[in-house]
Amino acid sequence: MNVLLIGSGGREHAIAWKLKKDNPDIKLFCAPGNGGTALIGENIDIAANDLDKLLAFAQENEIELTIVGSEEPLTLGICDLFEKNKLRIFGPNKAAARLEGSKGFAKRFMRKYDIPTAKYQEYGNFFVSGSNILSSAEYPIVIKADGLAAGKGVKVCQNKEEALEFAREMFAKHDSVVLEERLTGWEVSLLVFTDGRNYRVMPPSMDHKRAFDNDQGDNTGGMGAISPVPKFTDSLRAECERIIDKTLSGLRAEGIIYRGVLYFGLMITDDGPKVIEYNCRFGDPETQAILPRLKNNLLDIMFACIGGTV
Ligand code: AMP
Ligand code: GLY
Repeated sequence: MNVLLIGSGGREHAIAWKLKKDNPDIKLFCAPGNGGTALIGENIDIAANDLDKLLAFAQENEIELTIVGSEEPLTLGICDLFEKNKLRIFGPNKAAARLEGSKGFAKRFMRKYDIPTAKYQEYGNFFVSGSNILSSAEYPIVIKADGLAAGKGVKVCQNKEEALEFAREMFAKHDSVVLEERLTGWEVSLLVFTDGRNYRVMPPSMDHKRAFDNDQGDNTGGMGAISPVPKFTDSLRAECERIIDKTLSGLRAEGIIYRGVLYFGLMITDDGPKVIEYNCRFGDPETQAILPRLKNNLLDIMFACIGGTV
């Protein structure tokens, strides 16, 4: 079977490794891939966001399954495009990927479906220069750009000067920002495989976002990850599953059937788990810590998500 994997991170190396380990007979192509995936499959020189070329490649090379690793093609609607062309693809459609692609959409969704998260307000550009919101805010405060930013669109700001500088930086590329209450606690990444109705939770993991020793630097997409997470107890799992249930039923109520991996970035606070972010794909670097622990055949799980039999 010919399989196409889209992305170029350590995450895609881990996915390629697991696919090939479970299914030595598949022929794996990676677009664009990296040095690690080149050792496992064949790298193809097509960018992850070049939807037309990816479609043409899949059609010309009898690709039976395309797996989308990174977020950008998902938010651009690669799954809608492939499905329209009768090609099998693993990942959520464009409407579902807005959970990651727009912080504003995700926050409105959580508010509507009563999913625990930080209190927030959404603002357009006027607020940086034209209002005193940042002067009267209580610090620290979290500013989030409304759009994909590769882990660089969020900052916990300690004071007004820092907040103004970061807000200006974000407005250079984005139309709006979310201003959010700072939550305290510890973070865990909980990833699920889902067909939109049923789901299976992967082993919990933790990524370490801040650069430099002793977490002195800015947030990054992730410096490293661990799994298992010993302090993730069964009762905590049950609370997190209520969040997962509410999320999937909320999506269905919006007419969205989410197929693929849904990533819950959670802060475990004194008031229980709260959603910090949704991602519409495997985490990077969490995947590198999770997939070596997964016993099932990854290809079977992906087909179950696509076919509605999770
Ligand atoms: P996000 O892209 O929304 O996951 O944010 C990236 C990182 O910023 C998170 O993993 C947290 O470490 C931090 N962060 C985001 N939102 C908050 C919040 N409301 N309170 C505290 N830390 C946050
Ligand atoms: N490790 C965080 C992310 O994948 O977005």
